[in-house]
Amino acid sequence: MTKTWWKESVVYQIYPRSFMDSNGDGIGDINGITQKLDYLKKLGVDVLWLSPVYQSPNDDNGYDISDYQAIMPEFGTMEDFDRMLSEAHKRGIRIVMDLVVNHTSDEHPWFVESRKSKDNPYRDFYIWRQGKEVQEKGTAVTREPNNWGSFFSGSAWQYDKETDMYYLHLFSRKQPDLNWENDKVRENVFSMMDWWLKKGIDGFRMDVISLISKVQSFPDGPAKMNSSYGDAGPYTANGPRVHEYLKEMNQKVLSKYDIMTVGEASGVTVEEAKKYASLDGSELNMVFQFEHMDLDGGETFKWNDKKMDLVELKETLSKWQTELDEKAWNSLYWDNHDQPRIVSRLGDDRVYRERSAKMLATCLHMMQGTPYIYQGEELGMTNAPFGGIEDFRDIESINAFRELTGRGMDGETILKYIRYKSRDNARTPFQWDDSHMAGFTTGTPWIMVNPNYKEINAKKALEQEDSVFYYYQKLIRLRKEYPVIVYGHYKLLLPESRQLYVYTREYEGERLLTICNFTGESTECRIPAEFMEGKILISNTHRSQVTEENLVLEPYEALVLYCPAV
Ligand code: GLC
Ligand code: CA
Repeated sequence: MTKTWWKESVVYQIYPRSFMDSNGDGIGDINGITQKLDYLKKLGVDVLWLSPVYQSPNDDNGYDISDYQAIMPEFGTMEDFDRMLSEAHKRGIRIVMDLVVNHTSDEHPWFVESRKSKDNPYRDFYIWRQGKEVQEKGTAVTREPNNWGSFFSGSAWQYDKETDMYYLHLFSRKQPDLNWENDKVRENVFSMMDWWLKKGIDGFRMDVISLISKVQSFPDGPAKMNSSYGDAGPYTANGPRVHEYLKEMNQKVLSKYDIMTVGEASGVTVEEAKKYASLDGSELNMVFQFEHMDLDGGETFKWNDKKMDLVELKETLSKWQTELDEKAWNSLYWDNHDQPRIVSRLGDDRVYRERSAKMLATCLHMMQGTPYIYQGEELGMTNAPFGGIEDFRDIESINAFRELTGRGMDGETILKYIRYKSRDNARTPFQWDDSHMAGFTTGTPWIMVNPNYKEINAKKALEQEDSVFYYYQKLIRLRKEYPVIVYGHYKLLLPESRQLYVYTREYEGERLLTICNFTGESTECRIPAEFMEGKILISNTHRSQVTEENLVLEPYEALVLYCPAV
């Protein structure tokens, strides 16, 4: 396998709004990021991925962009951005930008033009359709062009009075989908990308890129449980021309630069991922798949408090590990700005918070692929104790509450689910220290600070030798020292175990054994004979050697054994 820097890197995701506020307005900003670069350097990460910092009315916190070549004033100026970029580069840290081109904001000049008239030059930049005439109780009425539901509740179509037609928005009403069938849309997007790359950024994380090509007959989708709308997935995810578009993007833009690209690919299967992230370099470097994140989903989409099943989790992740090996490249993640905190979801955020956070980190970081750390994960930050719906800021959570209570579901039950799964859990301010508002802002934060900041914060973690922070630092360092961690082949052991996640890696004779106890009880694990001589690379319980073949693991214990090539 060819060695490349992006396979050997560890990426750190910053959600700028919640990272560090430099001017006391309660909103994190670019100068805040610049101030904290030394902290990130100390952690040892190679690449920062910034969630969108472009001009935006913030209907979906920057994922609704009204100007791709301007910085949102709340976040600072283009000069601030340039300074951050050069300060990061000085420290050997690369910067990857979020690229949101499945849709724009409805306040983007293209859409403002597009909705004006049917013959406007920008009309065809978006997806406009005529309503459907249907008979209801004997009278003719006009309904949406098809039954597709939006990811953020309600119909995916919005009626627009001006021209008496509907436009498609897979996300919020203020996020109209771009029409990628139109050559001019692609040309404009590609030249905008080129503009950023010329500025010196180091790549793109491509928002919902698997959705850019829609089946042009726009058929109704299959019925969804607990929803009046149909599933648009089969006609929008991995659509008919998506690979053609990405190959074109690759030829015209990406291949001209030494950059990193990762596509967010909802609905992606391993077969599809082999195309998106093929090692032949014809499309993207890697994709974010969702299969492991969807394992605790249910009848009302993600809204429930079901626990993930370990056996299924292992089966899913192992499939990605083995099937992409030597064909495509994996991205590895537990957390991002769209997911609740992993220690609250798969670990124990109370008694064994630190130990289980380290265990989860070990399990992920010893796999093949490029690992992503989401801000605060390196502190073991937890879900927040949100109260009523007024505590939430996220459009997805607020709309879901409205829709589900509207369908007659019990408000308290829905709230329980939203508290557990809401994206806002990831978006509470980064906890820097135990001072006012966790040191995030001198003012009033835009979303509540998790009250556990007195206990969980970066200052304390940096003072404490065996903190989650230093554990992550070590995992990152090990990845640089041992090629087997980056390139090794993966093999799952004990697939049926309901307590343990155990796997090996192998590369040019070097071998690695990772053992993780996913439960709060101690449990036994039989060490394969060939690892009895192995040395412990890392342990979250200060274990220094393995003497017994039947190792008794402590609750949430993790360890990694290494054997050199013989
Ligand atoms: C992606 C982003 C998410 C956003 C959505 C619409 O899933 O990660 O935060 O809401 O796309 O842009
Ligand atoms: Ca600010």
